[in-house]
Amino acid sequence: MLWKNIKGLVGAYDVPPSRLHGKEMRDFPVIENAWLAIDSGQIIDFGSMDTFPGIADWNGLEVLDCTGRFVLPAWCDSHTHLVYATDRSEEFLSRVQGKSYQEIAEEGGGILNSAKALQAMSEEALYEDAHARLERAIAQGTGAIEIKSGYGLSAESEMKMLRVIQRLANTSPIPIRRTFLACHAIPKGDWDAQRWTQHMVQDVLPSVIQEGLADYVDAFCEEGYFGLDEVEFLLKSTQSAGLPAKIHVNQFNAFGAVPLCAKYNAVSVDHLEELNAEDVEALQASNASGNAGTMATALPGCSYFLGIPYTPARRLMDANVPLAIATDFNPGSAPSSNMARIVQLAILKMNMLPIEAIAAATLNGAAAMGVSDRAGAVARGRQANLLLTRPLPGLQAFGYDFGVEPVEKVFIDGMER
Ligand code: NIG
Ligand code: FE
Repeated sequence: MLWKNIKGLVGAYDVPPSRLHGKEMRDFPVIENAWLAIDSGQIIDFGSMDTFPGIADWNGLEVLDCTGRFVLPAWCDSHTHLVYATDRSEEFLSRVQGKSYQEIAEEGGGILNSAKALQAMSEEALYEDAHARLERAIAQGTGAIEIKSGYGLSAESEMKMLRVIQRLANTSPIPIRRTFLACHAIPKGDWDAQRWTQHMVQDVLPSVIQEGLADYVDAFCEEGYFGLDEVEFLLKSTQSAGLPAKIHVNQFNAFGAVPLCAKYNAVSVDHLEELNAEDVEALQASNASGNAGTMATALPGCSYFLGIPYTPARRLMDANVPLAIATDFNPGSAPSSNMARIVQLAILKMNMLPIEAIAAATLNGAAAMGVSDRAGAVARGRQANLLLTRPLPGLQAFGYDFGVEPVEKVFIDGMER
Protein backbone atom coordinates (compact mmCIF):
# COMPACT_ATOMS: atom_id res chain seq x y z
CA MET A 1 0.00 0.00 0.00
CA LEU A 2 1.34 3.40 -0.94
CA TRP A 3 0.05 6.54 0.74
CA LYS A 4 1.02 9.61 -1.24
CA ASN A 5 0.61 13.40 -1.06
CA ILE A 6 0.31 13.34 2.74
CA LYS A 7 0.03 16.96 3.87
CA GLY A 8 2.02 16.18 7.04
CA LEU A 9 3.46 12.87 8.24
CA VAL A 10 3.64 13.29 12.02
CA GLY A 11 6.05 11.55 14.38
CA ALA A 12 8.21 9.82 11.74
CA TYR A 13 11.78 8.93 12.70
CA ASP A 14 14.65 6.79 11.41
CA VAL A 15 15.21 5.87 15.05
CA PRO A 16 12.47 7.14 17.37
CA PRO A 17 13.56 8.48 20.77
CA SER A 18 12.19 6.62 23.79
CA ARG A 19 10.46 9.81 25.04
CA LEU A 20 10.42 13.57 24.59
CA HIS A 21 11.23 15.85 27.51
CA GLY A 22 9.02 18.92 27.99
CA LYS A 23 10.99 21.36 25.86
CA GLU A 24 11.54 18.82 23.07
CA MET A 25 7.86 18.07 22.62
CA ARG A 26 7.32 20.96 20.21
CA ASP A 27 9.92 19.35 17.95
CA PHE A 28 7.89 16.18 17.35
CA PRO A 29 8.69 15.94 13.62
CA VAL A 30 6.29 16.60 10.76
CA ILE A 31 7.38 15.72 7.20
CA GLU A 32 5.44 17.96 4.84
CA ASN A 33 4.18 16.55 1.53
CA ALA A 34 5.15 12.98 2.36
CA TRP A 35 4.65 9.40 1.24
CA LEU A 36 4.46 6.19 3.24
CA ALA A 37 4.60 2.54 2.20
CA ILE A 38 3.01 -0.37 4.09
CA ASP A 39 3.50 -4.07 3.47
CA SER A 40 2.15 -7.06 5.41
CA GLY A 41 0.85 -4.76 8.15
CA GLN A 42 4.19 -3.03 8.66
CA ILE A 43 5.51 0.41 7.82
CA ILE A 44 8.29 -0.31 5.36
CA ASP A 45 9.36 3.14 4.23
CA PHE A 46 8.45 6.83 4.13
CA GLY A 47 9.87 10.13 2.98
CA SER A 48 9.17 13.44 1.30
CA MET A 49 7.38 13.42 -2.09
CA ASP A 50 10.32 15.49 -3.44
CA THR A 51 12.57 12.49 -3.02
CA PHE A 52 9.97 9.84 -3.87
CA PRO A 53 11.91 7.01 -5.53
CA GLY A 54 9.05 6.02 -7.86
CA ILE A 55 7.33 2.67 -8.10
CA ALA A 56 9.20 -0.30 -9.47
CA ASP A 57 6.37 -2.83 -9.23
CA TRP A 58 2.72 -1.78 -9.61
CA ASN A 59 1.59 -5.38 -9.17
CA GLY A 60 -1.05 -5.52 -6.42
CA LEU A 61 -0.18 -2.03 -5.23
CA GLU A 62 -2.99 -0.09 -3.60
CA VAL A 63 -2.55 3.68 -3.72
CA LEU A 64 -4.19 6.04 -1.24
CA ASP A 65 -4.17 9.72 -2.16
CA CYS A 66 -3.91 11.63 1.14
CA THR A 67 -4.06 15.15 -0.31
CA GLY A 68 -4.85 17.69 2.43
CA ARG A 69 -4.67 15.05 5.16
CA PHE A 70 -2.26 14.38 8.01
CA VAL A 71 -1.01 10.94 9.05
CA LEU A 72 -0.29 10.30 12.73
CA PRO A 73 0.85 7.36 14.83
CA ALA A 74 -2.24 5.78 16.46
CA TRP A 75 -2.98 7.08 19.96
CA CYS A 76 -1.22 5.52 22.95
CA ASP A 77 -3.67 5.65 25.85
CA SER A 78 -1.49 4.97 28.89
CA HIS A 79 -4.14 5.18 31.65
CA THR A 80 -7.54 3.48 31.51
CA HIS A 81 -9.99 1.57 33.68
CA LEU A 82 -11.66 -0.01 30.65
CA VAL A 83 -12.77 -3.15 32.48
CA TYR A 84 -15.81 -2.28 34.60
CA ALA A 85 -19.28 -3.64 35.24
CA THR A 86 -21.76 -0.86 34.52
CA ASP A 87 -21.88 2.84 33.90
CA ARG A 88 -22.58 5.25 36.78
CA SER A 89 -24.83 7.66 34.95
CA GLU A 90 -27.20 8.00 37.94
CA GLU A 91 -24.30 9.41 39.94
CA PHE A 92 -23.70 11.76 37.07
CA LEU A 93 -27.29 12.97 37.40
CA SER A 94 -26.68 13.62 41.11
CA ARG A 95 -23.63 15.65 40.18
CA VAL A 96 -25.65 17.66 37.69
CA GLN A 97 -27.93 18.45 40.64
CA GLY A 98 -25.05 19.74 42.72
CA LYS A 99 -23.38 16.84 44.54
CA SER A 100 -19.61 16.57 44.27
CA TYR A 101 -17.65 13.47 43.22
CA GLN A 102 -16.29 13.23 46.77
CA GLU A 103 -19.75 13.53 48.37
CA ILE A 104 -21.07 10.73 46.17
CA ALA A 105 -18.09 8.55 47.12
CA GLU A 106 -18.61 9.24 50.85
CA GLU A 107 -22.21 8.05 50.53
CA GLY A 108 -21.02 4.67 49.23
CA GLY A 109 -21.25 5.53 45.55
CA GLY A 110 -18.16 5.95 43.39
CA ILE A 111 -15.58 3.18 43.27
CA LEU A 112 -17.46 1.11 45.92
CA ASN A 113 -20.54 1.20 43.71
CA SER A 114 -18.49 -0.09 40.74
CA ALA A 115 -16.95 -2.82 42.90
CA LYS A 116 -20.32 -4.12 44.07
CA ALA A 117 -21.55 -4.46 40.50
CA LEU A 118 -18.31 -6.05 39.35
CA GLN A 119 -18.26 -8.66 42.11
CA ALA A 120 -21.72 -9.80 40.98
CA MET A 121 -20.75 -10.09 37.33
CA SER A 122 -19.39 -13.23 35.66
CA GLU A 123 -15.91 -13.21 34.18
CA GLU A 124 -17.36 -14.00 30.77
CA ALA A 125 -19.85 -11.10 30.80
CA LEU A 126 -17.14 -8.76 32.07
CA TYR A 127 -14.89 -9.81 29.20
CA GLU A 128 -17.60 -9.39 26.57
CA ASP A 129 -18.42 -5.85 27.68
CA ALA A 130 -14.78 -4.83 28.03
CA HIS A 131 -14.02 -6.29 24.64
CA ALA A 132 -16.78 -4.18 23.05
CA ARG A 133 -15.33 -1.06 24.74
CA LEU A 134 -11.86 -1.93 23.52
CA GLU A 135 -13.14 -2.33 19.97
CA ARG A 136 -14.70 1.12 20.19
CA ALA A 137 -11.48 2.65 21.55
CA ILE A 138 -9.57 1.12 18.64
CA ALA A 139 -12.16 2.47 16.18
CA GLN A 140 -11.56 5.88 17.78
CA GLY A 141 -7.87 5.56 16.95
CA THR A 142 -6.24 3.97 19.97
CA GLY A 143 -3.33 1.81 18.85
CA ALA A 144 -1.88 0.81 22.26
CA ILE A 145 -3.53 0.88 25.67
CA GLU A 146 -2.98 0.36 29.39
CA ILE A 147 -5.80 -1.23 31.41
CA LYS A 148 -6.06 -1.33 35.21
CA SER A 149 -7.78 -3.60 37.69
CA GLY A 150 -9.00 -1.93 40.89
CA TYR A 151 -12.78 -2.35 40.83
CA GLY A 152 -12.46 -5.81 42.39
CA LEU A 153 -12.07 -4.75 46.02
CA SER A 154 -11.74 -8.39 47.02
CA ALA A 155 -8.87 -10.76 46.35
CA GLU A 156 -11.09 -12.93 44.19
CA SER A 157 -12.55 -10.09 42.11
CA GLU A 158 -9.18 -8.42 41.59
CA MET A 159 -7.90 -11.69 40.14
CA LYS A 160 -11.04 -11.93 38.00
CA MET A 161 -10.38 -8.45 36.59
CA LEU A 162 -6.73 -9.26 35.91
CA ARG A 163 -7.69 -12.43 34.05
CA VAL A 164 -10.14 -10.44 31.93
CA ILE A 165 -7.38 -7.93 31.12
CA GLN A 166 -5.07 -10.84 30.26
CA ARG A 167 -7.67 -12.27 27.90
CA LEU A 168 -8.04 -8.90 26.20
CA ALA A 169 -4.26 -8.73 25.86
CA ASN A 170 -4.13 -12.22 24.33
CA THR A 171 -6.77 -11.49 21.71
CA SER A 172 -6.27 -7.80 20.92
CA PRO A 173 -4.63 -6.59 17.69
CA ILE A 174 -3.00 -3.71 19.63
CA PRO A 175 -0.42 -3.81 22.44
CA ILE A 176 -2.09 -3.95 25.88
CA ARG A 177 -0.30 -3.25 29.16
CA ARG A 178 -1.78 -4.63 32.38
CA THR A 179 -1.81 -2.82 35.69
CA PHE A 180 -2.63 -4.27 39.09
CA LEU A 181 -4.42 -1.37 40.81
CA ALA A 182 -3.99 -2.88 44.25
CA CYS A 183 -5.12 0.10 46.34
CA HIS A 184 -8.04 1.90 44.70
CA ALA A 185 -10.53 2.34 47.57
CA ILE A 186 -11.15 0.91 51.02
CA PRO A 187 -13.97 -1.63 51.02
CA LYS A 188 -16.74 -1.50 53.63
CA GLY A 189 -16.32 -3.73 56.68
CA ASP A 190 -13.32 -4.32 58.85
CA TRP A 191 -10.80 -2.54 56.67
CA ASP A 192 -8.63 0.54 56.82
CA ALA A 193 -6.04 1.75 54.30
CA GLN A 194 -3.16 0.02 56.04
CA ARG A 195 -4.89 -3.31 56.48
CA TRP A 196 -6.13 -3.34 52.90
CA THR A 197 -2.66 -2.59 51.55
CA GLN A 198 -1.18 -5.40 53.63
CA HIS A 199 -3.87 -7.78 52.40
CA MET A 200 -3.12 -6.94 48.77
CA VAL A 201 0.64 -7.32 49.26
CA GLN A 202 0.44 -10.54 51.26
CA ASP A 203 -2.49 -12.33 49.68
CA VAL A 204 -2.85 -11.10 46.10
CA LEU A 205 0.51 -9.79 44.88
CA PRO A 206 2.18 -13.25 45.03
CA SER A 207 -0.46 -14.76 42.71
CA VAL A 208 -0.28 -11.76 40.38
CA ILE A 209 3.49 -12.22 40.12
CA GLN A 210 3.37 -16.00 39.89
CA GLU A 211 0.73 -16.01 37.16
CA GLY A 212 2.44 -13.09 35.37
CA LEU A 213 -0.76 -11.07 35.23
CA ALA A 214 0.61 -7.52 35.51
CA ASP A 215 3.20 -5.19 34.03
CA TYR A 216 2.65 -2.43 36.62
CA VAL A 217 1.23 -1.74 40.05
CA ASP A 218 -0.95 1.27 40.92
CA ALA A 219 -2.57 2.95 43.93
CA PHE A 220 -4.89 5.91 44.47
CA CYS A 221 -2.85 8.17 46.75
CA GLU A 222 -5.42 10.65 48.05
CA GLU A 223 -7.05 11.89 51.25
CA GLY A 224 -9.73 9.42 52.25
CA TYR A 225 -8.09 6.69 50.16
CA PHE A 226 -4.42 5.68 50.54
CA GLY A 227 -1.74 7.79 52.23
CA LEU A 228 2.02 8.07 51.83
CA ASP A 229 2.77 5.25 54.30
CA GLU A 230 0.58 2.74 52.49
CA VAL A 231 1.87 3.75 49.07
CA GLU A 232 5.48 3.54 50.24
CA PHE A 233 4.84 0.06 51.65
CA LEU A 234 3.26 -0.98 48.34
CA LEU A 235 6.13 0.54 46.30
CA LYS A 236 8.74 -1.24 48.41
CA SER A 237 6.94 -4.56 48.22
CA THR A 238 6.32 -4.44 44.48
CA GLN A 239 9.77 -3.09 43.64
CA SER A 240 11.38 -6.09 45.29
CA ALA A 241 8.98 -8.26 43.26
CA GLY A 242 10.15 -6.54 40.05
CA LEU A 243 6.90 -4.73 39.30
CA PRO A 244 7.29 -1.04 38.33
CA ALA A 245 4.69 1.52 39.38
CA LYS A 246 2.24 3.96 37.80
CA ILE A 247 0.45 5.86 40.57
CA HIS A 248 -2.69 8.03 40.86
CA VAL A 249 -1.49 11.19 42.67
CA ASN A 250 -2.56 14.80 43.32
CA GLN A 251 -6.08 14.52 41.92
CA PHE A 252 -7.61 16.59 44.73
CA ASN A 253 -4.74 17.19 47.17
CA ALA A 254 -0.96 17.57 46.96
CA PHE A 255 0.78 16.14 50.04
CA GLY A 256 4.08 14.62 48.97
CA ALA A 257 3.02 11.73 46.75
CA VAL A 258 5.00 12.94 43.72
CA PRO A 259 8.43 13.09 45.45
CA LEU A 260 7.70 9.69 47.01
CA CYS A 261 6.90 8.09 43.65
CA ALA A 262 9.91 9.74 42.00
CA LYS A 263 12.12 8.37 44.79
CA TYR A 264 10.92 4.86 43.93
CA ASN A 265 11.42 5.46 40.18
CA ALA A 266 7.75 5.14 39.30
CA VAL A 267 7.27 4.94 35.55
CA SER A 268 4.57 7.61 35.76
CA VAL A 269 2.59 9.78 38.15
CA ASP A 270 -0.91 10.39 36.88
CA HIS A 271 -3.58 13.12 37.39
CA LEU A 272 -1.54 16.03 38.89
CA GLU A 273 -4.44 18.47 38.85
CA GLU A 274 -2.95 19.85 42.09
CA LEU A 275 0.75 20.52 41.89
CA ASN A 276 3.13 22.32 44.23
CA ALA A 277 6.72 23.47 43.81
CA GLU A 278 8.26 20.40 45.46
CA ASP A 279 6.34 18.15 43.03
CA VAL A 280 7.69 19.97 39.99
CA GLU A 281 11.20 19.91 41.47
CA ALA A 282 11.02 16.17 42.13
CA LEU A 283 9.94 15.43 38.56
CA GLN A 284 12.54 17.81 37.19
CA ALA A 285 15.29 16.10 39.20
CA SER A 286 14.05 12.65 38.20
CA ASN A 287 14.31 13.61 34.51
CA ALA A 288 17.46 15.76 34.71
CA SER A 289 20.19 15.46 32.08
CA GLY A 290 18.02 13.47 29.69
CA ASN A 291 17.28 10.75 32.24
CA ALA A 292 14.33 8.42 31.63
CA GLY A 293 12.78 9.36 34.95
CA THR A 294 9.21 9.50 36.17
CA MET A 295 6.80 10.67 33.46
CA ALA A 296 4.00 13.11 34.29
CA THR A 297 0.61 12.07 32.93
CA ALA A 298 -2.30 14.49 32.65
CA LEU A 299 -5.89 13.25 32.36
CA PRO A 300 -7.83 16.23 30.98
CA GLY A 301 -10.99 14.17 30.39
CA CYS A 302 -11.30 13.82 34.19
CA SER A 303 -10.82 17.58 34.72
CA TYR A 304 -13.46 18.27 32.09
CA PHE A 305 -15.97 15.77 33.39
CA LEU A 306 -15.58 16.55 37.12
CA GLY A 307 -15.05 20.28 36.67
CA ILE A 308 -11.75 20.24 38.58
CA PRO A 309 -8.54 22.09 37.61
CA TYR A 310 -6.52 20.98 34.59
CA THR A 311 -2.97 19.77 35.13
CA PRO A 312 -0.59 22.73 34.70
CA ALA A 313 1.03 21.30 31.60
CA ARG A 314 3.08 24.35 30.65
CA ARG A 315 4.63 24.53 34.09
CA LEU A 316 5.75 20.91 33.77
CA MET A 317 6.98 21.27 30.19
CA ASP A 318 8.85 24.49 31.01
CA ALA A 319 10.64 22.49 33.71
CA ASN A 320 11.52 20.03 30.91
CA VAL A 321 9.47 17.24 32.47
CA PRO A 322 8.20 14.69 29.90
CA LEU A 323 4.41 14.80 29.75
CA ALA A 324 1.89 12.24 28.49
CA ILE A 325 -1.86 12.66 28.20
CA ALA A 326 -4.40 9.83 28.52
CA THR A 327 -8.15 9.32 28.81
CA ASP A 328 -8.48 7.79 32.33
CA PHE A 329 -11.47 6.03 30.70
CA ASN A 330 -13.68 4.93 33.63
CA PRO A 331 -17.38 5.05 34.60
CA GLY A 332 -16.99 7.61 37.42
CA SER A 333 -14.63 10.44 36.57
CA ALA A 334 -13.95 10.17 32.83
CA PRO A 335 -16.39 8.06 30.82
CA SER A 336 -14.78 8.53 27.40
CA SER A 337 -12.16 6.55 25.50
CA ASN A 338 -11.85 9.16 22.77
CA MET A 339 -8.20 10.25 22.60
CA ALA A 340 -8.83 12.88 19.92
CA ARG A 341 -11.07 14.63 22.45
CA ILE A 342 -8.25 14.46 25.01
CA VAL A 343 -5.84 16.08 22.54
CA GLN A 344 -8.44 18.77 21.93
CA LEU A 345 -8.81 19.47 25.67
CA ALA A 346 -5.04 19.59 26.08
CA ILE A 347 -4.84 22.28 23.41
CA LEU A 348 -7.88 24.26 24.54
CA LYS A 349 -7.59 23.95 28.30
CA MET A 350 -3.94 23.26 29.03
CA ASN A 351 -2.45 25.59 26.44
CA MET A 352 -0.44 22.87 24.81
CA LEU A 353 0.60 23.46 21.22
CA PRO A 354 -1.16 21.02 18.87
CA ILE A 355 2.12 19.25 18.13
CA GLU A 356 2.94 18.99 21.86
CA ALA A 357 -0.49 17.52 22.61
CA ILE A 358 -0.08 14.98 19.80
CA ALA A 359 3.41 14.02 21.04
CA ALA A 360 1.96 13.61 24.56
CA ALA A 361 -0.83 11.36 23.21
CA THR A 362 1.47 9.16 21.12
CA LEU A 363 5.23 8.96 21.75
CA ASN A 364 5.12 9.94 25.43
CA GLY A 365 2.00 7.85 26.03
CA ALA A 366 3.94 4.86 24.70
CA ALA A 367 6.82 5.66 27.08
CA ALA A 368 4.41 5.96 30.02
CA MET A 369 3.43 2.32 29.51
CA GLY A 370 6.73 0.87 28.33
CA VAL A 371 5.88 0.26 24.67
CA SER A 372 8.17 2.86 23.05
CA ASP A 373 9.84 0.11 21.05
CA ARG A 374 6.53 -0.73 19.34
CA ALA A 375 4.15 2.22 19.41
CA GLY A 376 3.87 5.98 19.43
CA ALA A 377 5.96 6.80 16.37
CA VAL A 378 6.14 6.16 12.64
CA ALA A 379 9.23 4.05 11.93
CA ARG A 380 10.34 1.40 9.47
CA GLY A 381 9.56 -2.15 10.56
CA ARG A 382 6.82 -1.13 12.97
CA GLN A 383 3.22 -2.28 13.09
CA ALA A 384 1.23 0.11 10.83
CA ASN A 385 -1.09 1.51 13.52
CA LEU A 386 -1.87 4.87 11.96
CA LEU A 387 -4.46 7.62 11.82
CA LEU A 388 -5.54 9.51 8.72
CA THR A 389 -7.20 12.86 9.40
CA ARG A 390 -9.88 14.49 7.30
CA PRO A 391 -8.54 17.38 5.19
CA LEU A 392 -7.25 19.95 7.69
CA PRO A 393 -5.81 23.44 7.25
CA GLY A 394 -3.25 22.53 9.95
CA LEU A 395 -2.91 20.56 13.19
CA GLN A 396 -4.51 23.48 15.07
CA ALA A 397 -7.83 22.19 13.69
CA PHE A 398 -7.66 19.48 16.38
CA GLY A 399 -8.43 22.20 18.93
CA TYR A 400 -10.24 24.73 16.78
CA ASP A 401 -12.94 22.70 15.01
CA PHE A 402 -14.27 21.40 18.29
CA GLY A 403 -17.45 19.91 16.85
CA VAL A 404 -15.92 17.83 14.08
CA GLU A 405 -13.98 14.57 14.35
CA PRO A 406 -10.44 15.25 13.12
CA VAL A 407 -9.65 11.57 12.49
CA GLU A 408 -11.29 10.10 9.42
CA LYS A 409 -9.72 6.65 9.17
CA VAL A 410 -7.97 4.33 11.59
CA PHE A 411 -5.53 1.65 10.42
CA ILE A 412 -4.39 -1.22 12.64
CA ASP A 413 -1.77 -3.52 11.15
CA GLY A 414 -2.26 -1.53 7.95
CA MET A 415 -5.92 -2.52 7.75
CA GLU A 416 -8.71 0.02 7.95
CA ARG A 417 -10.98 -0.48 11.00
O1 NIG B 1 -8.52 7.88 37.92
N1 NIG B 1 -9.00 8.37 40.98
C1 NIG B 1 -9.19 7.16 41.05
N2 NIG B 1 -9.66 6.36 40.10
C2 NIG B 1 -10.31 6.79 38.91
C3 NIG B 1 -11.76 7.00 39.07
C4 NIG B 1 -12.47 5.87 39.63
C5 NIG B 1 -13.95 5.96 39.64
O2 NIG B 1 -14.56 6.99 40.00
O3 NIG B 1 -14.53 4.94 39.29
C6 NIG B 1 -9.64 8.00 38.32
O4 NIG B 1 -10.22 9.10 38.26
FE1 FE C 1 -7.51 6.59 36.83
